[in-house]
Amino acid sequence: MDPLVAAVDQGTSSTRFLVFNARTAELISHHQVEINQSFPKEGWVEEDPKEIMQSVYECMERTCEKLGQLNIDLSNIKAVGVTNQRETTLVWDKETGEPLYNAIVWLDLRTQSTVERLINKAPGRNKNHLKHKTGLPISTYFSAVKLRWLLDNVEEVQQAVLSQRAMFGTVDSWIIWCLTGGRNGGVHCTDVSNASRTMLFNIHTMDWDPELCRYFDIPMEILPKVRTSSEIYGWMLLLVCQCLGDQSAALVGQMSLTCFLIKLFFVALYSLFVVSLCFSLLHCLYQPVMSDHGLLTTVAYKMGKDQPPCYALEGSVAIAGAVVRWLKDNMGIVQSTSEIEKLAAAAGSSYGCYFVPAFSGLYAPYWEPSARGIICGLTQFTNRNHLAFAALEAVCFQTREILDAMKQDSGIPLKQLQVDGGMTSNRLLMQLQADILCIPVVCPTMSETTALGAAMAAGAAEGVEVWSLSPDNIPNVTSETYHPQINTDESEFRFARWKKAVQKAMNWET
Ligand code: G3P
Repeated sequence: MDPLVAAVDQGTSSTRFLVFNARTAELISHHQVEINQSFPKEGWVEEDPKEIMQSVYECMERTCEKLGQLNIDLSNIKAVGVTNQRETTLVWDKETGEPLYNAIVWLDLRTQSTVERLINKAPGRNKNHLKHKTGLPISTYFSAVKLRWLLDNVEEVQQAVLSQRAMFGTVDSWIIWCLTGGRNGGVHCTDVSNASRTMLFNIHTMDWDPELCRYFDIPMEILPKVRTSSEIYGWMLLLVCQCLGDQSAALVGQMSLTCFLIKLFFVALYSLFVVSLCFSLLHCLYQPVMSDHGLLTTVAYKMGKDQPPCYALEGSVAIAGAVVRWLKDNMGIVQSTSEIEKLAAAAGSSYGCYFVPAFSGLYAPYWEPSARGIICGLTQFTNRNHLAFAALEAVCFQTREILDAMKQDSGIPLKQLQVDGGMTSNRLLMQLQADILCIPVVCPTMSETTALGAAMAAGAAEGVEVWSLSPDNIPNVTSETYHPQINTDESEFRFARWKKAVQKAMNWET
């Protein structure tokens, strides 16, 4: 039996555990569990850390049961990687193992006034004041301001810090600590890709930065140890853990699928991957490139202690696919998220309706936390089908804005777009994306690239080495290509209208 490698993929809305064949990258078995989000106040988004862990255990157990039914011995699993929603912030008590507050999710807006205060005190009110060290603008998105809020507002957190029992971590740290023993010697660590999204990490020195910690007044002793993205962190039964932020894992997975993993290091200066329709990453090799057009500079990964860090320019969109969940949960327009395609197809067009889902402000390229969602261009003719169409179009317009910024930063025109993620099963959306970008959109039939990337990083770690990254190992994956079906003028007209709607979303109060 070929060796197997597994990955925990803990995302914003669900957790999965997936097992791959380390020689062929074939997905052998998996299980998925949805995660509840709570919205205790306007703009607040929380998740229960215990529910997150429960979902991890449940997914592992169910996947292992399925392997048993396939007569596959669990000892064939040689390593487990972790990939996760990034920035989401937790603090727990290392002695009791109890979380001290809910996880504050990356989309959460409660720190808006903290962010305004920090920007006001920056020279020239410059939100990019810390960008030279972090690659990031000061924003509600990143962990440092969420951690600041916990330290300021939650007595249990304050007490735990005073008595040296507090541990801070993003979701990867929480999962790895729990899986490797928790209060009985769990490993408190994170990887460079997750650390680079906290605003406390220096992307040049590749370590926590004392000056940044002073800026946010964060006690450094509560931070996890920063490790590479591919090394043995600890042991859980017989298994090993590695981790990567989910978008970095998807980048690694996509590179392998498109045969770039080997070639990239030698021939490509920049390569673009849309790792989901919310997040586009431009791989920049070994040098952090600073964006002049609202993109983030982030550490993509560091594949082992002796390897150099690789960087990416990232365009993050706060609400893309989540707009469909909003139409379902908040508006009751659809019963299931898959129904959206049918509705939008029935409309065939938005008939002049534009929907900017700025529920958490606007992220790249605007970084405007005070923006709010807006639907405009309504007439008596507009019905839920048009709204469904406008919601899908919003996903595509946002991707176009990011790709335009990447083109401006890199000077490289994009010839075709490689996408993955759950939304790629929506064929209408894929066609719309090709229409709005005026270039072909290519979807691999293997859509689990995030977990694949994490499993690869785990399997390739020194001391494990069941997944050697050679050209012979590149999985044979087919893809489907969508070609633009409207002319450029029509596409430009619709995009210009979208831009006007964005301006309204940003200035809705004036
Ligand atoms: O930056 C947030 C991102 O990592 C969340 O990803 O796939 O859970 O929505 P996802």
